[in-house]
Amino acid sequence: MTVADHAAQEQFLPPSKAALFRHELYARELGFIMEAHNGISARIVEEAGFRGIWASGLAISAALGVRDSNEASWTQVLETLEFMADAASIPIMVDGDTGYGNFNNVRRLVRKLCQRNIAAVCLEDKLFPKTNSFIGAGQPLAEMEEFCGKIKAGKDSQTDDDFCVVARVEALVSGLGLDEALRRAEAYHAAGADGILIHSKAKTADEVLEFAAQWDRRCPVIVVPTMYYGTPTDHFRSGGVAMIIWANHNLRASIAAMREVSRRIHDEESLVGVEESLASVQDIFDLTDNRELHDAERRYLGRTEHKVSGIVLAASRGEQLGELTADRPKCMLDIRGQPLLHRLLSTFRECGLGDLSVVRGYRKEAIDVPGTATFDNDAYDDTGEVASLAAAGERLAGACVVSYGDILFKRYILEGLLEAEGDIVLAVDAHWRSRLDVAPNRHRDLVAASRPYSGHYLDDERVGLSRIGATCAPEDADGEWIGLAKLSAKGAERVRAEIDAMAADGSLAKAGLPELFSRITAAGEPVLVHYITGHWLDVNDAVDLASARNFL
Ligand code: SPV
Ligand code: MG
Repeated sequence: MTVADHAAQEQFLPPSKAALFRHELYARELGFIMEAHNGISARIVEEAGFRGIWASGLAISAALGVRDSNEASWTQVLETLEFMADAASIPIMVDGDTGYGNFNNVRRLVRKLCQRNIAAVCLEDKLFPKTNSFIGAGQPLAEMEEFCGKIKAGKDSQTDDDFCVVARVEALVSGLGLDEALRRAEAYHAAGADGILIHSKAKTADEVLEFAAQWDRRCPVIVVPTMYYGTPTDHFRSGGVAMIIWANHNLRASIAAMREVSRRIHDEESLVGVEESLASVQDIFDLTDNRELHDAERRYLGRTEHKVSGIVLAASRGEQLGELTADRPKCMLDIRGQPLLHRLLSTFRECGLGDLSVVRGYRKEAIDVPGTATFDNDAYDDTGEVASLAAAGERLAGACVVSYGDILFKRYILEGLLEAEGDIVLAVDAHWRSRLDVAPNRHRDLVAASRPYSGHYLDDERVGLSRIGATCAPEDADGEWIGLAKLSAKGAERVRAEIDAMAADGSLAKAGLPELFSRITAAGEPVLVHYITGHWLDVNDAVDLASARNFL
């Protein structure tokens, strides 16, 4: 790079986080920053659309299990801030409490914050060790001059010109009144504070709005409406407030959620009841940007990625649904605002599957699946599932999941199937008899296995398929195949070979998937069973459709 190129590039460097924060603080419009207390919450705040983070002293302390009384050391807070600044690209204002000592501690604090890419610090005019403002009454304040010295020391120590030092005035909280609050704010502003946080524990915003009115935008005013949360935001907007801090709501949300989930898992001795209400494991991977690591592995380790692909067989009409499927195949029937097929594909994606394909047949033009490859079995009326799978034969390369297009199941079922060992593994419902009351005469792909479901929570012992479909009488059945199978790369190759063999001997056209699996089993090669217990359904008729709508 030439010197001229370097100079040209420098002009286009993105603004620092401190510059972004300063811009927000001094903007004409009211700004908002949201509490975070660790890396993941910082990322979630950014994801929600906030343009800044409040690294709350209360929330960081509480997340560490200690009191908001400077029990966490300043370097422990700094460590947490480093994770937060790495996890989010938006600026952070840290709650610096009283500065962890005198002016000298503030100098070191500010230098370290600048080194860690923190955009601003807020210092409050109380004494070290601090006490949370909502505890007790009449907390003693720092001497005004001494606190001005801290502000000056902070401003003189910043290594980024845009770094902001905000002075937090506690006079209202300590019951010293508006005049004292204004007197202190004036002094702190004169000492170099870039903004004034006027704190209050009143139930209404009257006193902070009165402060803002009298302060008259001499520098930006920040408020924390934790106690006067009922005040409409527009009152702050029209009242001359520059920025609102939503100070502790992520911590409180996580406490409520963790309590509820811990209680349920404890009481129910099972994860089933809570699973669907939780963020998925995939969500954690996404939030911590595992994709970037995969890309880096490809770049630096020369690895090629093998994602599990998914094939959905959705060629049939669903005759029993009558008029409902006059203009669309059953996979496109609406299940609470989304076609069944979209719901199925979403579950695939949530479980990390890529390269999804759908085999269409009846009313193929009605199948709308953006981001998904489509294959056609135009002879859907005279052929079965093996012919549909053969239409997507080119996708039977590498690990994949094959699914009927008319099923719905809880996500954990697919997650479990993906983790199950084996080259060809079928998800089999051991509790199939409990569905007999609903539809006694329904066609079922019944399965006899090397052993029945043990009923044990961790039933991960290998179970082989003995018989499936027409060759399995109900009295011999250990379960019902739900229409979901996982194939390893080797398993996919084996299935492809069997499809070729069926094409050659003329049995392909009419065959269903159970026949294909039966042939592989008959050849002495293992097809394995992964037991599940309910939490799925298939849609064959109007009763099923109603159940599917309730299932969600
Ligand atoms: C914090 O979030 O730690 C604050 C705000 O300082 S408050 O708890 O309202 O004092
Ligand atoms: Mg605090």
